[in-house]
Amino acid sequence: MCPSSPLSSPRLRVLSGIQPSGQLHLGNYFGSILPNLEHVGKAKESFFFIADLHALTTMHDAVTLKKAREDIVLDYLACGFDPNKAAIYHQSSISEHTELMWILSTVTPMGLLERAVSYKDKVQQGVIASAGLFTYPVLMAADILLYQAETVPVGRDQKQHVEIARDIAVKFNNLYGETFTVPEPSIRAEVAVVPGIDGRKMSKSYGNIIPLFATDEEVKKAIMGIVTDSKGMSAPKDPEQCTIYQLHKLFLSKEQAKALAEEYRHGLAYGEAKKRLFEAFMDTFGAVRAKRAKLSAQDAAQALEIGRVRAQKVATATMAQVYEAVGLR
Ligand code: ADP
Ligand code: TRP
Repeated sequence: MCPSSPLSSPRLRVLSGIQPSGQLHLGNYFGSILPNLEHVGKAKESFFFIADLHALTTMHDAVTLKKAREDIVLDYLACGFDPNKAAIYHQSSISEHTELMWILSTVTPMGLLERAVSYKDKVQQGVIASAGLFTYPVLMAADILLYQAETVPVGRDQKQHVEIARDIAVKFNNLYGETFTVPEPSIRAEVAVVPGIDGRKMSKSYGNIIPLFATDEEVKKAIMGIVTDSKGMSAPKDPEQCTIYQLHKLFLSKEQAKALAEEYRHGLAYGEAKKRLFEAFMDTFGAVRAKRAKLSAQDAAQALEIGRVRAQKVATATMAQVYEAVGLR
C-alpha cells in the first residue's frame, strides 16, 4: 500500500452509500462493500447509509423501493458490517441530507453539474431526465459533507461525484469560511471495474449481474451465461481478454491468479473455467449467504436505530455550523 493511501493513515472518518435499487452483485461487493469493510475498524468513525432518496430518481414503485431498502440492510449485515462499529442508516431518516442539499445547491455552479457524466449516461439508458436526476450530485455532496467525511470508498464510476462534492466543499468554504472537510475518494485500483457476464461493467441496469444473494441455481445460471469467444475446448486462450478469468481473479491471491492464467494459455476449457468460478463464488460467499438467510427484520431495525442515532448527532452539529455560516441563525 502506498504511504499516502487513506487506508494506511488510520483514524479517518469514512463514509459511503449504496442505492437500494435491486439485488447486490459482485461489482457492488468488490467495488464498494469489501473496501468499506476494510475501512471499518481502521477508521475513526464509519458511516454507511442506504441512499433511498437517490433511488427515487430511478424507482417510482413504492412497494419495490420499500422492499429493496429493507433487504439491503440485511445484505450489509450478512456481509459483515457490525452496526456498533459502522453506523448503518437510511438516508431519508436524517432530514438534514435534503436541508443541506438545498443550501449547497445555491453555491453549486450549473456548469459543474452539466459536466457530470452519470446524468447523461442514465438519460441515455432511458431514465427520466428529472431535476432530481440532474441535481443528484448535490444530494451526494450533502451526504458526504454533512458527516465531514475524509474518505469515501467507492467504485470508479462514482469518482466524479466525489470530485463534485470536493468542488462544492471548497466553493462553500471560500464563500463562508472553513466549514466542510474536503473529502477524498478511495478506489481500489485492482477492482476498479468489475465486468458483468456480457463483458461490460457489471450493473443492475445492464441486466448482466452475478447476484450475491440469489439461489444457487440463479448464481450458476449467471456464471454459465458469461459470454466468451468461440475458441475450441483445448485451444490456448488469452486470460486478459476473458471475462471468466477477470471475475475469477477477484477471488484469488496474485500467485493463484498467475497459475490460473497459465492454465488458460494452455487451453483450459471455458466450461471448466466457469465451473471453477462457481466453486470459488460458493467458497467465498457460502457463510455470508447462510447468515443472510437467518437474519430477521428485527435485526435490521435494531442496527438502523443504532446507526440513525449516531448519524443524527453528527448531522445536527454540522447543520448548526452551516446555518451559522450562511446567516440563517
Ligand atoms: P449498479 O451499477 O448496479 O446500479 P450502483 O450504482 O448501485 O450499482 O453501485 C453501488 C456501489 O457499487 C458503488 O460504490 C459503485 O461504484 C460500486 N459498483 C457498482 N458496480 C460496480 C462494478 N461493476 N465494478 C466496481 N464497482 C461497482
Ligand atoms: N451515488 C452512489 C451510487 O450510486 C450512492 C451514493 C449516494 C453515495 N450518496 C453517496 C456513495 C455518498 C458514496 C457517498 O453508488
